[in-house]
Amino acid sequence: ARSGAALAPAAAAPAAESKTGERLSIVYGSQTGNAKRLAEQLAGQAEAAGLSVRLVRADAYPTRELKTERLLYIVISTQGDGDPPDDARGLVEFIAGKRAPELKGLSFAVLGLGDSSYPQFCAIGARLDTRLAELGATRLFARGEADLDFETVSTPWLQQALGHARDALKPTTAHLATVTPLRPLQAAPAFHRDAPFAAELIANRRLIARGSSAAGAVGFDKDIRHIELSLEGSGLHYQPGDALGLWPRNPPALVQAVLDTLQLDGEADVGHNGQHLPLRQWLSEKRELTKLARPFVASHAAHARSEELNRLLAPDQNAQLAELLSRTQVIDLLQRYDGDWSAEELVAALRPLTPRLYSIASSQKAVGEEAHLTVAHLEYATQAGLRWGAASHLLAVAEEGERLPVFIEHNDRFRLPSDSTRDIVMIGPGTGVAPFRGFVQDRAADGAAGRNWLLFGNPHFRSDFLYQVEWQAALKAGQLHRLDLAFSRDQAQKIYVQHRLREHGRDLYDWLQGGAHLYVCGDATRMAKDVHAALLAVIAEHGGKSPEAAEEYLNDLQQQGRYARDVY
Ligand code: 2AM
Repeated sequence: ARSGAALAPAAAAPAAESKTGERLSIVYGSQTGNAKRLAEQLAGQAEAAGLSVRLVRADAYPTRELKTERLLYIVISTQGDGDPPDDARGLVEFIAGKRAPELKGLSFAVLGLGDSSYPQFCAIGARLDTRLAELGATRLFARGEADLDFETVSTPWLQQALGHARDALKPTTAHLATVTPLRPLQAAPAFHRDAPFAAELIANRRLIARGSSAAGAVGFDKDIRHIELSLEGSGLHYQPGDALGLWPRNPPALVQAVLDTLQLDGEADVGHNGQHLPLRQWLSEKRELTKLARPFVASHAAHARSEELNRLLAPDQNAQLAELLSRTQVIDLLQRYDGDWSAEELVAALRPLTPRLYSIASSQKAVGEEAHLTVAHLEYATQAGLRWGAASHLLAVAEEGERLPVFIEHNDRFRLPSDSTRDIVMIGPGTGVAPFRGFVQDRAADGAAGRNWLLFGNPHFRSDFLYQVEWQAALKAGQLHRLDLAFSRDQAQKIYVQHRLREHGRDLYDWLQGGAHLYVCGDATRMAKDVHAALLAVIAEHGGKSPEAAEEYLNDLQQQGRYARDVY
């Protein structure tokens, strides 16, 4: 992948074995780029301090060098329910596995990133941390476990890491020879995560008509929206594969419900970490209310003196807790279990609000200074009333002319092939189709010679065929070369995209042998796993390979940047 190449993984610079001892190695595994950015930051600081540093993406790390390594920092995220990021699968397997060597001479520390609304919070970081110690390595300081608002934990962790590295290694002036410049000099954009651009909403329309999709089959209606935002005047640019970050606000009625339930005054001034704001503003703009996480459940269990909640938090109740976290919001917990909170305690205990990322569904070559999104409005009914996802609801009810705080989140790991004659296979059921609308627009604008194959799935042909008219026009115009559909509920047996992959396995394998790039976008917990298994089966069957050889083939594709996933 391009990001790996730019950072000169070890493969590009032959490692000087004798130098290993005086060098700090920083290895990162990153899905959305946060771990990568933190690793780069640490490497930059260590370099500036005169230390010899090697920064390596996990899949470029030569595992045979582990036993000669002296100082190693690992920065790694955990996906959804406990998986490593795609680029770290191999390294995690190696370290956790039987082939891992004794590591008596190694000192290390681990920074884990994750999302505490999943029970397997930071599980991969924890697993590596425990295992390295088991192998005889010395843990220099405690593992960091950073939540979505990762700076709270990462900033002190990075400081500690730098201090320990300085103590362990002598600064050298000759270090630059083994290290590539970390960041090309580029002007920082005027608008970014911490200084978002107020983008005007210029279109908001339903792709799926409310009520038509689920038609009584399940308890709620689907509401999928096509949103267009203007980036005019922002100087912001994106490439297909990038995401748009949106800072949500909590619905005013939800904020009011929290205030009423806890009998707190919204206008009361609340100070936290030196910042003073009215409680209402803390709750609407600065704190998560729509996503519940384990630490808040634990705090509320104490405030409510609830045995029931405490039982749920027991280590053997992970499945139950996961169920609670996925279907319950902060307000439901507060209403179900009576507990007293002061305004200050509440602000301190709730997680800071973090931006939501949406894969951009357009190419600037086609839409200029606009960014299009495909958004599933998260809405469900509980006995206590309707519940919404903060960002998707904000977008769903936004009217033309309204302005929303946004920024661009670049994703170098999900990029069209630089060689436009390469074929691409895009697997994007549901709203996972979003980036592929951008891919096809981009390749059409470039007149790319490579073929574009899209696999799309959703419940029903009649109501859920997102962007149907556009795909059909693209087929006709020769901009889309193949479209396979999996409408799961139009027949008795479920049909999913991975069934189509298996059905057309011969063609798929031929495309791959011809150099095609594979992309998967959408649901991480079920779809992406099943698609991965289907890909392995297709490669084994049509390539005449053992399961191990098929796995190696797919790993190779991933390392070459030819199997990229944007899953959530
Ligand atoms: P279902 O809801 O009818 O089961 C987009 O959400 C589409 O993905 C829907 O058609 C949904 O089908 C389908 N889907 C659900 N689980 C899936 C899985 N494990 N693999 C692939 N597609 C899946």
